[in-house]
Amino acid sequence: MSKVKKIAIFASGSGSNAESIVNYFVDNVSVEVAYFLTYNIEAGILKRGKRLGIPTLIFSKQNFVQSDAIIKFLKSQDIDLVVLAGFLWLIPPAFIRAFPDKIVNIHPALLPKFGGKGMWGHHVHEAVVANEETESGITIHLVNENYDEGKILFQVKCPVLASDSAEIVAQNVLKLEHEHFSRVVEEVLIGL
Ligand code: GRF
Repeated sequence: MSKVKKIAIFASGSGSNAESIVNYFVDNVSVEVAYFLTYNIEAGILKRGKRLGIPTLIFSKQNFVQSDAIIKFLKSQDIDLVVLAGFLWLIPPAFIRAFPDKIVNIHPALLPKFGGKGMWGHHVHEAVVANEETESGITIHLVNENYDEGKILFQVKCPVLASDSAEIVAQNVLKLEHEHFSRVVEEVLIGL
């Protein structure tokens, strides 16, 4: 029997994408969502982890940026793929070297537009509306040392109407995330 592939999901906030990934793989015996990780003790993902029975880990900036503690922990748990689902911190170079092409991120816009430092959550959708864009969407990409610049693996679009508020755009985009992220994660896992 082939090795069970293990995923660790990092999030800074609610964790709805993390939950949708857990639900997607719930009957898949060859994939395990092993850990939810965050630095934010208020993050909704912690409650979801408790409810879903997924072990959670809260880490400090010091542990994440100035030590290899998190890298060592993930390696000790035999993690195959790191998924960033609404995670706001830049990934340190040592972490990227430890998981080459094994870190994927989802961004709530059509990169390379509306990406980069400070472009997260509602800031993205407000910029899309302010720019009078007629479409938005999601981008799933491999993570490199720069915010939102890694190799794009998948994009899908949704229309933006002139009457749409940033909240409406955010809702439409989150729907796309829940619809596609898990399947793309599965495709990456198959390729590992
Ligand atoms: C998503 O829109 C994601 O694209 C962005 O942050 C949001 C996270 O949502 N990076 P959730 O925490 O998965 O509910």
